[in-house]
Amino acid sequence: ETVDWDPDDAGKGGYDHYMLKEIYEQPTALRQTIRGRTDPLKQRVDLEELPPGTFSGIESVHLVAMGTSYHAAMYAQSLLTDRGINAQAYLSGEYGSNPPPVDDRTLVVAVSQSGETADTLSAIRAIQGTGARTLALTNVVGSTVTRECENTVYIRAGPEIGVAATKSFSSQVATLILLCERLSHATNGATPRSTSDLFDSLAVLPDDVQQILDESEAQAVASAYHDCESYFFLGRGVGHAVALEGALKFKEITYDHAEGFSAAELKHGPLALVTEDTPVFAVFTGRDDTKTVHNVKEVRARNAPVVAVTDGNHTGATEYADHVLSIPDTHRDVAGILANVQLQLVSYLAADMLSRSIDKPRNLAKSVTVE
Ligand code: AGP
Repeated sequence: ETVDWDPDDAGKGGYDHYMLKEIYEQPTALRQTIRGRTDPLKQRVDLEELPPGTFSGIESVHLVAMGTSYHAAMYAQSLLTDRGINAQAYLSGEYGSNPPPVDDRTLVVAVSQSGETADTLSAIRAIQGTGARTLALTNVVGSTVTRECENTVYIRAGPEIGVAATKSFSSQVATLILLCERLSHATNGATPRSTSDLFDSLAVLPDDVQQILDESEAQAVASAYHDCESYFFLGRGVGHAVALEGALKFKEITYDHAEGFSAAELKHGPLALVTEDTPVFAVFTGRDDTKTVHNVKEVRARNAPVVAVTDGNHTGATEYADHVLSIPDTHRDVAGILANVQLQLVSYLAADMLSRSIDKPRNLAKSVTVE
């Protein structure tokens, strides 16, 4: 008697797809990312890869990246701005062609899971020789980006096989939170209270992600809406980055039209597309939630189904929603990681119901090594 065995399934550890396995690996990946890097007693971040003085004299930060990594970069832009640090996320493919002015007070951070993305490498090459300081944030030890940048911080997510990036986003954002804290100490001195809340939330982040994986309402949401043709994702601040990431994941693996935007932009155009057939995912992360509730009311008035991703602390966020994807109560800087896990599950489950090629979506490669 023989047993059918597909070598492609060997690494999936019993999961139907690498993507699902990697979604479920996130608590472990995040533990690896954070381990040894925070000292809650001293309220200090310890990124041992970075020599003392790495950030001295830094006055502005440019984050260059593509795709999911760009969304992590946008997330960090929001965190740094919130800490009073000049920061801008750029699509590295644009930055490389037309780099903005930089000097030795500029830190350019290349965010790349693979460390091999051609657009991101050319962005770094475009500012070599200007005096700008460079830092790679990557998952792959010894990848090209680590050789092109002065310093490297690893996100320690473990190998990611699925073309759709999942655990790498969570680990990128967790690493960027640590980096932002370190930068904030180097440039301003951080307020101890906010830091201690943040450290507490980071410490329980792997458990909070596990709670979502155990209790997610994503199955009901995917069942209700996977036959629609267009999906919208909106949020503010870090929630804007998560909205873009939610839409990217959804379009990559379901092949349906999905668009993410800042909730602030809704009335300036996208509202024209909203109908009873366009589910709207509203991401609440504890910043300007009242304004986002107002946007939810506007899409409800056009009969659009609403899915709120929220910790439920703002009653308006759940009141006008048809479905709620719940996230545990946490620091607002961390909430976007949790919201994104819920959206990963919805995309995965909807794509599975549509029998899509989840691990190898059409036309896409894991690593884009040409510009
Ligand atoms: C994410 O799901 C995509 N497959 C893609 O956008 C990816 O994030 C992008 O190509 C950047 O890759 P990198 O992080 O390896 O640089």
